[in-house]
Amino acid sequence: MSAAKEGAKGSVAAWRGVVREFRAILPEIPEDAVVTLLEGGTPLVPMPALSRRAGLGLDLHVKIEGQNPTGSFKDRGMTVAVSRAKARGAKAVLCASTGNTSASAAAYAARAGLRCVVVIPEGQIALGKLAQAMIYGARVLAIRGNFDRALELVRSMSEEGSVVVVNSINPDRIQGQKTVAYEVVQALGGRVPDAHALPVGNAGNITATWKGYEERAAVASASGASGAAASASAGARPKMLGFQAEGAAPIVRGARVEDPMTIATAIKIGNPASWKGALDARDRSGGLIETVTDDEILGAYQALAEVEGIFVEPASAASVAGVLKLGAQGRLKGLHTIVCTVTGHGLKDPERAVSVSKAVEKVEDDPEVLRRVILE
Ligand code: F0G
Repeated sequence: MSAAKEGAKGSVAAWRGVVREFRAILPEIPEDAVVTLLEGGTPLVPMPALSRRAGLGLDLHVKIEGQNPTGSFKDRGMTVAVSRAKARGAKAVLCASTGNTSASAAAYAARAGLRCVVVIPEGQIALGKLAQAMIYGARVLAIRGNFDRALELVRSMSEEGSVVVVNSINPDRIQGQKTVAYEVVQALGGRVPDAHALPVGNAGNITATWKGYEERAAVASASGASGAAASASAGARPKMLGFQAEGAAPIVRGARVEDPMTIATAIKIGNPASWKGALDARDRSGGLIETVTDDEILGAYQALAEVEGIFVEPASAASVAGVLKLGAQGRLKGLHTIVCTVTGHGLKDPERAVSVSKAVEKVEDDPEVLRRVILE
């Protein structure tokens, strides 16, 4: 499918995954090297209840990236990175991770027949993500240091020819992840949202999403996009709204954080690799990067589940928490359509869900007791 037509999970033809749907806007990949689990094509779902909560006239949507094959947005970039590694004759892929990158790398490597090694901060990744890396057959190396240290170690291996680093410092990852912007515009019928909110950790995703919007806008204005909706928004780009956890907010503070702290382990990062890309996205879009507290993250996490029926992992809820906070502060005036990327599936971290929810109630296995309990 050409970039101008933009990808759609249409009813006419089956979805073919990120590489084949977006070939025209991606680096070259020979057909026999394509490694795909048919990622991408995720739903853009309206949030009527939280729209009302955020402010008058707002139309909030979530782009549910947890519906990718390994349950996070990483699959969009991983299909490109692993396909390109395979095309180059690599023998193994390597990454540092707070969990989702390792799950995705392990799955795509398995499918490609490549070895996979992941370096994780010991005891600091959600159980579901660890289970994924293990069952897909990766070698899992746990270090005592944090994610930033793990990435430093992995970077020192980036010169080894047969081992390809598949963190977002690999530009192929950014290329794949930019496709989300095309899907959002497609789902909105050719309109560009007024703002796009994301959680920010290593800052690859905000960099990539902005890149997608910028490239799409450049092509749309150059080609004089046809159709009323398309021409109204040719060249338009959203404001990028990035949210870091308060205890892990190096970009907001303007300085590296040595010992980042947050319950949102996916974004517990003190020295983001794509720092500059995030600042560019913020400044060129006229957006912002701010903090949300762990309480605000967990509040949005529960609200998403309880009033919208959408279960995401805690870090994902930072985008929604940030938008709700800006709404409460009266800072969303002039904006109407806002898209929040929710980056990972809630089942990645079942322990957190159980710990914040109402307790399970024990009842006797007696119909009378059951009736009383339910109707009381
Ligand atoms: N949300 C989730 C669920 C993530 O796993 C990550 C990053 C982010 C948000 C932030 O995205 O790093 O591009 O700014 N996870 C990485 C990992 C670091 O190793 O899985 P980012």
